[in-house]
Parts: sequence; structure tokens; C-alpha cells
Amino acid sequence: MAERVGADRVRIGVLISGRGSNMAALLYASQAPDCPYEIVLVASNVPDAPGLDLARAEGVPVFAHAHQGLKRAEFDAIIDAELTRAGVEIVALAGYMRLLSDAFVAKWQGRCLNIHPSLLPAHKGLDVHEAVLAAGETVTGCTVHLVTPALDDGPILGQVRVAVLPGDTPDTLANRVHYAEHQLYPRVLAQLIRDRTSPEALLARIRTLALALPAAAEKLSHGSPGFFVEGGKFFAYFSYDHHHDGVTGLLVKASGLEEQAQLIENDPDLYYRPAYLGPSGWIGIRLDSGDIDWAHIEGWLARSWRASAPKRLAALPF
Ligand code: GRF
Repeated sequence: MAERVGADRVRIGVLISGRGSNMAALLYASQAPDCPYEIVLVASNVPDAPGLDLARAEGVPVFAHAHQGLKRAEFDAIIDAELTRAGVEIVALAGYMRLLSDAFVAKWQGRCLNIHPSLLPAHKGLDVHEAVLAAGETVTGCTVHLVTPALDDGPILGQVRVAVLPGDTPDTLANRVHYAEHQLYPRVLAQLIRDRTSPEALLARIRTLALALPAAAEKLSHGSPGFFVEGGKFFAYFSYDHHHDGVTGLLVKASGLEEQAQLIENDPDLYYRPAYLGPSGWIGIRLDSGDIDWAHIEGWLARSWRASAPKRLAALPF
């Protein structure tokens, strides 16, 4: 699949409370031409966080709002509104010293990451380096994980191990772990984005949606995974570089050639005429041209299913 560049890069919002060295690592890594993300907002609950100055100096939009006096959910709603306004697709917590409200975590589920300076699940919470030294560990490290409601607990996306040296203090250890953090975070974020947009991940998601429809089943059709209604017809195909067209897309049934033409005319970046099924009124929806509106995809699958299902099934409410 083609690398996402320029306007197609995934838009990242970084939340910080302090120095922001991990934010800086993410930012500088994003200068690489093949980096799949760009940082579009750095936001903080600490208006004089040093990391905000760095972001400003690098020309990144910043937002700061003190959390004092606000309920957690109220404050998170303010941050969430800024993230949304900036068109953020993934949130990276980088030394953000706030517990998040359930509503915020739920909204950004699967799209919010955190970095923690230990080899999770060991040593969650604060004063990590003190705890590592007190426990007599010889190896520590850092972890990037997805954020879930429980603190420092979500699925682990990557770790780097760091040796504990004789004579280490919490400060010397924290410094070395920081080097490791700065390597880890950009790499894991880029990998998460590539995984989310890989053909395998896209097919897995399409498959989940398609097979959730009544009596839906899957079989290969001319080399493409196809989804059909048992006792009925195909209602969707996942198309990946079909006959080397370089496109990853979903093919579903439009009502006919007129609608097909209309859709393509209205949104030529999203819709296309599939080479082989085009003459019969199918429409291609690109899955490789930026952020995917999954509710829209789900709607198309349901509609196409209805058009293909035998009458007794199509009447089912779902
Ligand atoms: C890092 O150690 C990170 O793991 C933890 O907070 C610290 C933030 O450091 N969550 P910085 O602000 O990125 O320099």
C-alpha cells in the first residue's frame, strides 16, 4: 500500500503537562518524509508547561487551559473540543499528568496512546524509578500502550528495555529511560498507523462488519474476498491491488449506473468505478485515501446486503 504523505498523514494531538521531550521526539520524527503522521496540536492542562514553548517555536498550534476548579469531565470536554476542532485522529499522551474521564477514554478508544517509564505491567503509577530501584531490579524500560479506563493498563504496543546501573539514582535512571522513550514512541505510533491502514487490518474490519449481517458468508471470488448472503447474491468485495490497480477499496452495489456516476462526480476522491463490476452498477469506495468513515462503510454494507438478500431476509429489521 502506498505510504501516506502530505495532506494524507494521520493527524496527531499530543497532550503534555511538563517538559514535553517525548512530544519533541514525536515531532522531530515526523519530519521524516515517510513518517505516516503529523502533529497538528499540542495541548496542556499546565499553561506554562515548557513543552508548549518548544511546540510554539516549531510552529505547531498549541492550546492550554488550567484544569483547576473544573470537574474532570468538564475539563476533558474542553480538551476534546480542541482536539476535534484540530481534526485530530489519534491522541498521544506524553507526560500528561491527568487521569482521564470515562467519556474521554471511551470516545478515543483504540486511538489514544500513552508512554510510561517502566516495563508494564510492572511499576504502574507515579515515582516509578524510585520503585524500580527499591525493588532491586536490574532491568527496567519503557512502554507505549493503548489507553483504557484503568491507569497504565491498556494493551501494550511496544517496549524498550533499559539496564539499571550500579549507583543509579532515580534521576540518572530517568534520564536513560528517556533516551529509550524517545526511540520507542515515534516508532510505535508510526507502526500503529501502518497497522490500522494495512490491507490486512482493513479487510479484518470489513469482514467483521459484513459477517455481522444476517446470513452473510465469505468466499473468494476472482481472487478477492467476497461477501454474499446465503441463498442470495454477493453484496460486497474487498479489493486490494486488483489486477495491479494499486487501489484498496470496498465494492458495494449502487442502485445503478446513474447513481454510480453521481457518486463519483460528487466525491471523486472517495468513489470510483470498479474495472470489472462497474458496468453492472457496482461502486468502489476507497479505503486508502485518508481517514475512513466506518459508519458510512457500515451503512453501505447494510444497503448493499438489502439489495442482494432474498426477500424473506431483506425484510428483517437489524
Ligand atoms: C516520561 O517519563 C513519560 O514516560 C511519563 O512522563 C514523562 C514525560 O516526560 N509518562 P516528557 O515531558 O516527555 O519529557
